[in-house]
Amino acid sequence: MVQELNKKSSPTFSSSTTIEGFTEKETIALFQVGKIRSVENGEYVLRKDETCNILTFILDGSSKILFSENDGESFSVNIKKGSLFGDPDLSKDKKNRFSVVSSGASRILEIDQFAFNLLPPGIQISVYRKILDTFTELNDELVTKSGALSKKIESLVSYVKDFYNDNDQYARSIMIQDMIKNFPRLPIQINRLTSMLLDEGASVAEIAGFAKMDPSIVSIVLKIVNSGYYSFQRKISDFHHAFVLLGFNQVYQILMENFLQGVMPRHFNLKALNLHSAVISQIAFDIAQLSKKSKPVMMSTLGILHDLGKCVILVSKAKKPELDIVMARLDDCKVGSLLLDAWNTPVIIGQSVEYQKYPNFCSPEYIPENCIENVAILYIAHLCFDYLSGNEKAEFSNTYLQEYLNIVNLHNHSIESLMSQHIMPSLIKKMDVFPDYVRDFIKNQQTTVTFSSNK
Ligand SMILES: [Fe+2]
Repeated sequence: MVQELNKKSSPTFSSSTTIEGFTEKETIALFQVGKIRSVENGEYVLRKDETCNILTFILDGSSKILFSENDGESFSVNIKKGSLFGDPDLSKDKKNRFSVVSSGASRILEIDQFAFNLLPPGIQISVYRKILDTFTELNDELVTKSGALSKKIESLVSYVKDFYNDNDQYARSIMIQDMIKNFPRLPIQINRLTSMLLDEGASVAEIAGFAKMDPSIVSIVLKIVNSGYYSFQRKISDFHHAFVLLGFNQVYQILMENFLQGVMPRHFNLKALNLHSAVISQIAFDIAQLSKKSKPVMMSTLGILHDLGKCVILVSKAKKPELDIVMARLDDCKVGSLLLDAWNTPVIIGQSVEYQKYPNFCSPEYIPENCIENVAILYIAHLCFDYLSGNEKAEFSNTYLQEYLNIVNLHNHSIESLMSQHIMPSLIKKMDVFPDYVRDFIKNQQTTVTFSSNK
């Protein structure tokens, strides 16, 4: 495209077209070696990512800089007449960092490397100085713009934060209190198991021993493990065997799914929710293990519990269909957090659930320090899940990703590299212990993620 520019017009000079920052003699010399091009409104003077091997003076008219095609007006910077763009070393094949678009009819003067070399050294130095001046002015304008932009972001974040940050109102609301009260309580044995899984001090033997002592837990787990959901070759009749084979995470998932199945309205299909929780739980476990932040078993338990608020809302909506619009607008994270508090789970669990959506719209400083690592892991696990599902996430949800990756020491990773190098190989390795719907989901997505198998 840039090459096409040279086609047009011969150099002309009049006293009305002197270039600011150059003497008349210098201006004449520039016009003698350069080529003038007329540009129309909306025409590109420079285009981002194209090779820039030409110097471009904006002679008159108005133009603006766009840093990306999608930036819109708020990210554009107006350019003064007389500005000069280009790299002083034209022999380098550099790419334009931004586009320059004409915002009316205007004229530009273009000088290529051959023409530039014809200029006397004194004029070449003036050209370098002009480029420096242009970029200094641009830098000043960008600093001012970024200050104004920061203020806008702050005000948007505080608006969204105010919307979410009304925990007391939720806790005080009679309607929410009723919803929590009417949601069936977790059976005491599962509640105890939840506490043990979330308790950093509980040993594997203690957890397995406790679960084994309860006949209802044993019968649920053995019944489901031997059902069509799992593909074990031989019948598993011993709880300890099932526990060793499946691990905490799967046993707990089985118990919670069984509990929710009994709680949710009959017509409601829990499959999508179960799948989401099971995969998030597994990914959260893997991220905790990889990052050495937070406890892997606690994170996998949190993964299973993190969307309970949705269940509370669904149950309440089924009981009071006339309140469907109100229910649809409730923050399920806050409701889930209050439910977990009512079940006496440790404060950090309810808090992690409450703040789980914050990373979508604000930086880590707005999240309580004690639950920040859990929230970061849950957030990253959700992005991995979306990537795995092939769901395009709204662009804003990645805005603060780097900051949350830093929190859990994964700054050298992207979602793609995490998936291909760690999460996908780990999911495939554990494939046999997942129920059929999770296995099918992983198998279906396997082809979309290129991964380095470490089986
Ligand atoms: Fe979720």
